[in-house]
Amino acid sequence: MRTHYCGAVTAADIDTMVTLCGWAHRRRDHGGVIFIDLRDREGTVQVVVDPDTQEAFRVAEEVRSEFVLRVEGRVRRRPPGTENPNLPTGEVEVLTQSLEVLNPAATPPFLLDDENLSENVRLTHRYLDLRRPVMQRHMRLRYRVAKLMRDYLDAHGFMEIETPMLTRSTPEGARDYLVPSRIHDGMFYALPQSPQLFKQLLMVSGFDRYFQIVKCFRDEDLRADRQPEFTQVDLETSFMDEEGIMELVEGMIRQVFKAAIDVDLPDPFPRMPYSEAMNRYGSDKPDLRVSLVLTELTDAMRDVDFKVFSGPANAPDGRVAGLLVPGGGELTRGEIDHYTDFVKIYGAKGLAWIKVNEQAKGREGLQSPIVKNLHDAALTAILERTGARDGDLIFFGADKAKVVNDALGALRAKIGHEKGHAVNEWRPLWVVDFPMFEWNDDEKRWDALHHPFTAPKPGHEDLLSTDPGRAVSRAYDMVLNGWEVGGGSVRIHREAVQEKVFAALNIGEAERRNKFGFLLDALKFGAPPHGGLAFGLDRLVALMAGADSIRDVIAFPKTQRANCLMTQAPNAVDERQLRELHIRLRNPPAVQG
Ligand code: AMO
Ligand code: AMP
Repeated sequence: MRTHYCGAVTAADIDTMVTLCGWAHRRRDHGGVIFIDLRDREGTVQVVVDPDTQEAFRVAEEVRSEFVLRVEGRVRRRPPGTENPNLPTGEVEVLTQSLEVLNPAATPPFLLDDENLSENVRLTHRYLDLRRPVMQRHMRLRYRVAKLMRDYLDAHGFMEIETPMLTRSTPEGARDYLVPSRIHDGMFYALPQSPQLFKQLLMVSGFDRYFQIVKCFRDEDLRADRQPEFTQVDLETSFMDEEGIMELVEGMIRQVFKAAIDVDLPDPFPRMPYSEAMNRYGSDKPDLRVSLVLTELTDAMRDVDFKVFSGPANAPDGRVAGLLVPGGGELTRGEIDHYTDFVKIYGAKGLAWIKVNEQAKGREGLQSPIVKNLHDAALTAILERTGARDGDLIFFGADKAKVVNDALGALRAKIGHEKGHAVNEWRPLWVVDFPMFEWNDDEKRWDALHHPFTAPKPGHEDLLSTDPGRAVSRAYDMVLNGWEVGGGSVRIHREAVQEKVFAALNIGEAERRNKFGFLLDALKFGAPPHGGLAFGLDRLVALMAGADSIRDVIAFPKTQRANCLMTQAPNAVDERQLRELHIRLRNPPAVQG
């Protein structure tokens, strides 16, 4: 139907006849001459319709936004002064000889050029939203990244193998999406939270290097970087240790960034132990673009009068930490109040602060609601450890360590980006040396920080029973600009070690058999040492595209409430369908649809 893509017509085509198909992006009537910006996936080109071509002109008068057109015409140079250097086709235009409307279009619910579209409108008419050049770029980048990763893994001996979608619960720890079985009354499949167990089984089967670009399903609280269904680039290897795996996948990310967006990432990526990430950044995915860091003050606040500090400082799971903001003396009361409200989102009860006006004046030089309750030694420790200078401000968090880390960690990133304490660079890193377990205070038990198949560091096997909190794992997370983009570990391949981990997690024999019996059986039949990792493809592409949310790089995403606004999923279903599935609803929705 056509000879060229609209966006691909260039000066090299001048004086040739072209046939183009596409959408009318814009139509302008210029006193007798009609201009149409004709758009397809490669871009737009200016089409000129002259009244001399009577039939084409008559058609052009009827063209409206988003009509589908076919144009035949001759390429010519645009008159001097009318070139558009911002457009690859900006030197040329197509003088129409014939124009055909392949399909008219109803008036679109929004202008494709509108910069302030509400996301609800966009998602409701996603097929139109996806026509917008920015979305076309995002989807193309996504395809390119996936293709580059596939090529890299193929070149490194990985084989793509599909694993089931209708399966049993996997151990990633989110809530499952369940699928009722018609054939088995009262039974359910679970959609996979990841292919974790299957990829380990593929190693037992001897495939050596597996990968898969695969949908995963998790019913959890949604955020800008979380969707109920998302895509992993999932991989697993045999006979490789963490060094080998990290080097291999780091190489992949470097190569993909270079080829897809011409960015040189550092070689190698820096590594940071989990403990340092939490202590200095309050997060296991620190945004290293931000220069602000937390200062440990717990030990220096044990004997101060200020109960808000001494309480947590003396509690076993408490922490007192400072956040130095250079030049923060400029912050207004309003800004400080705003930050105080912000940390409350993370459970903080307040946000104490000290403005360092003039250190030479001692106490008098400090402006703060709390200094009167702090003795000299405590103040000296604060000023020395934070390295505060005149004109700076120090914020404080005092609470359970988790609350302090969450609150000051988030505040660090917020102030860092808002107040110019961040560089505009790519800052990847590996976070390593994760603890095996995390104390779950609600349930009074240890939970696996990654999943229960993650191997402990050599020499840490005995800690699994004697001091589980100190056992360190062979897990690693790749972090980029404050986002966790991938994570994995070396796995347990020996039954005896797996037993110890289950014991530490208080997972009894019956539960082990019930949940993971098939994997435990497989480990008995000569499981090779193995390990792997999974990248979040949506997150990687969103970062590369500079998008704020992974929704912007997913063709048909769901809202924060897990709805698809376009298809109206989830929806109520027929009584007959439910009966076949042996399901009776406790609270049937009012309207069946
Ligand atoms: P993990 O649970 O860390 O590991 O997931 C791997 C990566 O997937 C991405 N991710 C998500 N992206 C969007 N929406 C979500 N809801 C979501 N959840 C996770 C993140 C994360 O780093 N089986 C293990 C991997 C392994 O051990 O090999 C796993 O799934 O970028
Ligand atoms: P108060 O004595 O409760 O009026 O608090 C004095 C200052 O300490 C105020 O600036 C509060 O915002 C701050 N504050 C209160 N609780 C905490 C906390 N848990 N961590 C940090 N600062 C706090």
